[in-house]
Amino acid sequence: MTTDAETWRAQVLTILPELFPGPLAASLSGRALVEGRWSLAAIDIRDFATDVHRSVDDTPAGGGPGMVMRADILGAALDHAAERLAGVPTIYLSPRGTPLTQARVRALAEGPGVTVLCGRFEGVDERVLEARDVEEVSIGDYVLSGGEIAAMVLIDAVVRLLPGVVGDAGSLREESFEQGLLEYPHYTRPRDWEGRAIPEVLLSGDHGRIADWRRAEAERLTRERRPDLWERRKKG
Ligand code: ADE
Repeated sequence: MTTDAETWRAQVLTILPELFPGPLAASLSGRALVEGRWSLAAIDIRDFATDVHRSVDDTPAGGGPGMVMRADILGAALDHAAERLAGVPTIYLSPRGTPLTQARVRALAEGPGVTVLCGRFEGVDERVLEARDVEEVSIGDYVLSGGEIAAMVLIDAVVRLLPGVVGDAGSLREESFEQGLLEYPHYTRPRDWEGRAIPEVLLSGDHGRIADWRRAEAERLTRERRPDLWERRKKG
């Protein structure tokens, strides 16, 4: 069993706390949650509202569509979160954020935990991001209807790197992005399927040749699919 000090702690501020842990309760992350390797608290932002309707948003200053989450309510929610769990970064998930990378995920896994703020509506009052030292992070160049699914993506990516969560540590070392390359292709039985054979070299038993082939395939896939990664790798 995991001791308290070893538990990686996530807390999520959301107006939809019932969505959590959701898919994070299944499979590897779910088992690790039960084992105490990580913990998750979903905090309802509406608990910090000040009116009977528990409203958390208002119309945008300057006009325009949609609603904006209020700084006073989010500030109170973030202060509560900081009291519950001190010394962890606060991340606001938004399409406007710095793109999430495996390097950032790794750094989070090496730390004590994270506070994640999920927005809904048009966004959040900018002042709360400045005043509470909030890091804005995006999971990709597309727009979700809120930060909750992005929060699950972020937490899943971190949790699988925690010690003991993925049984075979070798599979973490070889996967996409760990060496600045996409992962090589995989095959298993049957040896021939619909006229397609497993590449001969993988059946040769020659570990040197297999490693060379996998390396060449990883490089080819990265060049073809992710010229941005390939360029960075050549420079780096
Ligand atoms: N919320 C809405 N879209 C998002 C995105 N692409 N990344 C992170 N959070 C989001």
